[in-house]
Amino acid sequence: MCTLKGLLLAGLAAAAASFALPALAEGGDPDHYGFGTTPSPEELSRFFAIPPDGAGLPPGKGSHGEGEKVFAESCAACHGEKLEGIAKPQYLGDKLIGGRGTLASAAPVKTVESYWPYATTLFDYVKRAMPFNAPGSLTDDQVYSVVAYILGEANIIPKTETIDAHSLPQVRMPNRDGFFRDPRPELELYR
Ligand code: HEC
Repeated sequence: MCTLKGLLLAGLAAAAASFALPALAEGGDPDHYGFGTTPSPEELSRFFAIPPDGAGLPPGKGSHGEGEKVFAESCAACHGEKLEGIAKPQYLGDKLIGGRGTLASAAPVKTVESYWPYATTLFDYVKRAMPFNAPGSLTDDQVYSVVAYILGEANIIPKTETIDAHSLPQVRMPNRDGFFRDPRPELELYR
C-alpha cells in the first residue's frame, strides 16, 4: 500500500541511511553504533553463490554410486525414487529429470534436465536449500555425489564420471543456449 505515511517513512529511512553510510564507507568502526557484531569467516561461509564458472566451489568430489545412496536417503521421499517428482495425493517435490525438448511445446516440462542452463547452479541450490526439511545438512562430497547422480540419471554426463570443482563447470546442460540476455537498455545500469 502506498500511503503518505509510507512515503514519509521511506523518506526517513533514506535520510537515516545517508547519515549512516558515509561513516561506514570511511572505514568507520562497526562498534560505533553500539550494536551488532562483526561476522566471523565461519558465519560468512554460509552465504555463498556459485556462478557458472564454478568460482567458490569447495574441494571434494562425488560419484554416481554415492549419489544414489544420498538420493535414496535424503531426496527420494519428496522427489520420487526415479526422480519423477511427487505431485499426488499432495505435492511434495518437483520432477528433476526428463522433459528435454518440450519447453517450446504446448505442454512444457521444466526440470533440471530440460531447463537449467548451468550445472553449477545444481550444486549451489542443493547445498543451500536441500533437503527441503534439513538444508545445509549434507557434506560437500554428498552434494557433489547427488549432483553426479542427477546429471547421470538425466544422461547429461556418463554415470562413470566423477564430479568435482574442476569438472562441474565444464558440464554442458541441454538448455544452455535457451536463454538470452534481457535487451532492455536500463538493465545495463544494474549489471
Ligand atoms: C521434504 C521434501 C523434500 C526433500 C527431502 C528434498 N526436496 Fe528438493 N524440493 C522440494 C520442494 C518442495 C522443492 C521446490 C522448492 C521451491 O520451489 O521453493 C524442491 C526443489 C528441488 C530442486 C529444484 C527443482 C526445480 O526444477 O526447480 C532440486 C534440484 C532439488 N529439490 C533437489 C533435491 C535433492 C538433491 C534432495 C536431496 C538431497 C532434495 N531435493 C530433497 C522438496 C524436497
